[in-house]
Amino acid sequence: MPDVVNVIDVHKHYRLGAEDVHALRGVCLRVEAGRFVAIMGASGSGKSTLLHLIGGLDLPDAGRILVAGEDLTQMTDRQRTLFRRRRMGIVFQAYNLLPTLTARENVMLPLLVDGQPIEAIERRADELIRLVHLDRRTAHAPSALSGGEQQRVAIARALLNSPDLLLADEPTGNLDPGASLEIWHLLRRLADETRTTIVMVTHEAAAAAYADRVHVLREGQFAGVIESEGKGDAALVASRYQELAG
Ligand SMILES: Nc1ncnc2c1ncn2[C@@H]1O[C@H](COP(=O)(O)OP(=O)(O)OP(=O)(O)O)[C@@H](O)[C@H]1O
Ligand SMILES: [Mg+2]
Repeated sequence: MPDVVNVIDVHKHYRLGAEDVHALRGVCLRVEAGRFVAIMGASGSGKSTLLHLIGGLDLPDAGRILVAGEDLTQMTDRQRTLFRRRRMGIVFQAYNLLPTLTARENVMLPLLVDGQPIEAIERRADELIRLVHLDRRTAHAPSALSGGEQQRVAIARALLNSPDLLLADEPTGNLDPGASLEIWHLLRRLADETRTTIVMVTHEAAAAAYADRVHVLREGQFAGVIESEGKGDAALVASRYQELAG
């Protein structure tokens, strides 16, 4: 399988006044097509920094980041923005839905902005709404949906352009255990049924256990890998994580 993600020796610093935070210290990561990978680590270990770099939302200070074979660090800002819009989908802890649009309109929005024909967008949106099991909620505004339902809308929206890569940063950070479980099952199903390549950042073993593999970040470096095999075995991931995260 070709690599959808190839992160090569990436460093990232943040400068806050006189302070220099070395957030990523030589990180390498490869994710094969169709794999569901989790990145786990303590708060401040660099998880969001790495996900933002893979998503082309920021640039590393050193190293290279290839997504579907294309080097994000060699693109202009405009090329990177277009590449992200056309080839990647990103989901955050906050659902970031537009409050004045219905669920269905929110799903359709990225391609409407891209100027594609409306019938094709509607067909694709309805297909995704079925995939995330929101068929009966399409005409609702976000405020009439539960947190879990809103996140499923956000996931459908992220999948609209059939992305090479779906990125998720703490997608269940605002959800209760029941709604979280539904999202983890949904991501697992996307990987299994639609072969979507997924990279999910989480600090929860219960979430990471649904991924095929867990990469553990510790103070800006990878400390090791857990072969979680997508079985949802949180206890296995938690105990291996304790050993690796120290
Ligand atoms: N914009 C920024 N400016 C300055 N420092 C930053 C910035 N973003 C992140 N950092 C610092 O970089 C380090 C890594 O942060 P990052 O947000 O990647 O951690 P994280 O693993 O996602 O943590 P959390 O689990 O709390 O979300 C931290 O020390 C953080 O304070
Ligand atoms: Mg974070």
